[in-house]
Amino acid sequence: MINMRDLDETSITEAVVSKVTQGGSARAKQINEAVVRHLHDLCRELELTEEEWEYAIDFLTRTGHMCSDTRQEFILLSDALGVSMLVDAINHRHPGDTTETTVFGPFFVENAPEVTSGADISGRLDGKPLLIEGAIRDEAGNPVAGAVVDIWHADEDGFYDVQLEGGEAGGRGRVLTDETGSFHLSSIVPSPYPIPDDGPVGQMLGVQGRHPYRPAHVHFMVRADGFRRLVTHLFIEGSDYLDSDVVFGVKDSLIKPIEWIEPGSGSTGGGHYLLRADIRLAPA
Ligand code: BEZ
Ligand code: FE
Repeated sequence: MINMRDLDETSITEAVVSKVTQGGSARAKQINEAVVRHLHDLCRELELTEEEWEYAIDFLTRTGHMCSDTRQEFILLSDALGVSMLVDAINHRHPGDTTETTVFGPFFVENAPEVTSGADISGRLDGKPLLIEGAIRDEAGNPVAGAVVDIWHADEDGFYDVQLEGGEAGGRGRVLTDETGSFHLSSIVPSPYPIPDDGPVGQMLGVQGRHPYRPAHVHFMVRADGFRRLVTHLFIEGSDYLDSDVVFGVKDSLIKPIEWIEPGSGSTGGGHYLLRADIRLAPA
């Protein structure tokens, strides 16, 4: 029986662990024990003061108050502290020759316009014309027909449609791949942008001496029967912030050039930038 009286700054940990592991699944017990041990060790290592404990409680309270149906400040906190990309790395160890994953982000919309290949998805977003030409393949290079490809990105000022006045979609769409696994969509070239920084996470970045920016990118989510869902981006080569992404999401293999296609040239008639999205899915 563990003593529950006169607990001191060392003995309190075993006492709490013995209580939090009384119920739940084996995994829940493992998690509860680890959380208590790490939290207690953190307090001991830092010799946490009462003022610092109060600050932490207030910070978490403000983070909670910032959350709404359209704002998830806790995920943003996880993103800015590298936890989202750490969990991503643990869960997608990138076996074989498949496309690497990166952070999901808060700007995905489940009911994005369903479009056919060739559509213009820029909507009301302004920017330089961009053709996104893609092919979805399996690990061996065989085309994946009928894959559901969601694409979303910011405008030339770094805003997603959901951040602009008015409700119409822009810079997002859902398209199916054809029998060769291909699709192409017209849109505009996105710019780098700051993550939402008007809340506690923004204040934290300020205190830490960090900027809130992400490099220019296009988000992809690809789903197909028999394959693992892929959540990733393609980053635009040469963009600012590729080496200081505030959410630590950049991978070399995901940085792609955008090529200017002269008017009158190429199979499309040119007059636009071209981003090639060649994606390989991992098996389910
Ligand atoms: C995004 O790329 O949309 C994003 C990712 C993490 C935090 C904020 C935005
Ligand atoms: Fe983004």
